[in-house]
Amino acid sequence: MFLSSAVILSALALALDAPRVLADDFKPSVLDTPQVLGLVADPHINRDSCGSARFGSRELWACRDSQPYDAEGHPSFPLYQSSASWTDFDLDGKPKIQAINGSQTGLLCYGNNYEEPFYPVPEDECHENSIGACPDQKSRSAIWPDSPPLVTSADLATGVIQAYTWITQSAIDFHQRALAVDPPTTLYSVYYDPAESGTAAGLPNVTIVQESFWTSDQLPYGSYGGVVADGIAYLYGQNNARSVGLARVPADQVTNKTAYEFYVNGDWTSAAPGVNDTGVNILNVSAGGQGTYYYSSIWKRFVWIGQACDDIGANFYITTSGSPQGPWAKPSQFYTGSSDDSSISYTLQAHPGLLRSLDENAIYLTWTTANSTGYYTPLVYVQWQ
Ligand SMILES: *[C@@H]1O[C@H](CO)[C@@H](O)[C@H](O)[C@H]1NC(C)=O
Ligand SMILES: *[C@@H]1O[C@H](CO)[C@@H](O)[C@H](O)[C@H]1NC(C)=O
Ligand SMILES: *[C@@H]1O[C@H](CO)[C@@H](O)[C@H](O)[C@H]1NC(C)=O
Ligand SMILES: *[C@@H]1O[C@H](CO)[C@@H](O)[C@H](O)[C@H]1NC(C)=O
Ligand SMILES: *[C@@H]1O[C@H](CO)[C@@H](O)[C@H](O)[C@H]1NC(C)=O
Ligand SMILES: *[C@@H]1O[C@H](CO)[C@@H](O)[C@H](O)[C@H]1NC(C)=O
Repeated sequence: MFLSSAVILSALALALDAPRVLADDFKPSVLDTPQVLGLVADPHINRDSCGSARFGSRELWACRDSQPYDAEGHPSFPLYQSSASWTDFDLDGKPKIQAINGSQTGLLCYGNNYEEPFYPVPEDECHENSIGACPDQKSRSAIWPDSPPLVTSADLATGVIQAYTWITQSAIDFHQRALAVDPPTTLYSVYYDPAESGTAAGLPNVTIVQESFWTSDQLPYGSYGGVVADGIAYLYGQNNARSVGLARVPADQVTNKTAYEFYVNGDWTSAAPGVNDTGVNILNVSAGGQGTYYYSSIWKRFVWIGQACDDIGANFYITTSGSPQGPWAKPSQFYTGSSDDSSISYTLQAHPGLLRSLDENAIYLTWTTANSTGYYTPLVYVQWQ
């Protein structure tokens, strides 16, 4: 059958006029008053900015600057740039809330860090000391994870887990000001083999896959968060100008740069765009601050939960989308955590790995705040309607 060119042209015109896909109209709402469950804490380590991922029957937490407590319970030295821990689950599959120390309860963190950075500091990034203080005595490297390890494979029979973390090679001055705009990004392998880790306190083996996996003129894909769905790793990266771009790669090809595709101008391309290129930013893919991406099988949606750009309160926002590239819904606020008024809250995180099963319509949240005895990490449970 032949269609007249007029019919074809008007069909084309319709296709061009119609909005390509409508933004998500799904509105998550909170069922009951969220429950404050206590803290996530290691009684031996004071530490900043933790995220987590499910590693088999336990949750793995990875955090930024960490310090041992002294005899009076105050953070002391050495300070090291990152640390990790395990937390356990109860027999009923819920995160195990227990006494931590003294009056504190919550998730008890444990693991052998040996006061060394969990993410090894590259040799040319002031790695001589665990703080990352540079010989110029004016700066330090800050090899700080913004997102937890992304698990790409888990062998149920052996318990072997492969995960990856992307960390930007930040350098800061002693006023915490960034010294490099859009620095390169290091890819780390986080590999756990229970047969090789010794006791339950043994942590995964972390190695540098490539120091400048993404260069300074590329987006730091993966550092802003990622999610694995149907064997594909979707990796978000945010530049200094706060654009958030997306890359994808088969989950078993994460270390193979030529296997990546990038979402640019509404399409996938194998050419990595420049860090400031127009057409990389995805609208409403987050509220602009730090957060967590995951896939909700009960909602059948990709989800981001986190903080708004430049906010300093524990104000949690959410946005959802049927696909990783959007369109994403307009982020909406659903919870505000209370914290010491004198201190800021940041590193707002969601913890889908703490859920009992994929059909539990809920999420766990944490954030980082501080008081005169150092950093602490409140844990909250939110049930959705
Ligand atoms: C537990 O708390 C007590 C009292 O605050 C403190 O003296 C002790 O060092 C703490 N234990 C650990 C392992 O941090
Ligand atoms: C850690 O991984 C590196 C690189 O794969 C390997 O050479 C080393 O033997 C591993 N160490 C342990 C304790 O598994
Ligand atoms: C990207 O934009 C930032 C400002 O956000 C600028 O400082 C930087 O030099 C730009 N990078 C490149 C490679 O153009
Ligand atoms: C890397 O990815 C490219 C593109 O998909 C593929 O042709 C190549 O075989 C991959 N290399 C390895 C070592 O898997
Ligand atoms: C994204 O958010 C803005 C406001 O922040 C809104 O005007 C716009 O419609 C949203 N885009 C989509 C695709 O929902
Ligand atoms: C700081 O907060 C932690 C966690 O809530 C608490 O255990 C500690 O007593 C607080 N310190 C002060 C000085 O309030």
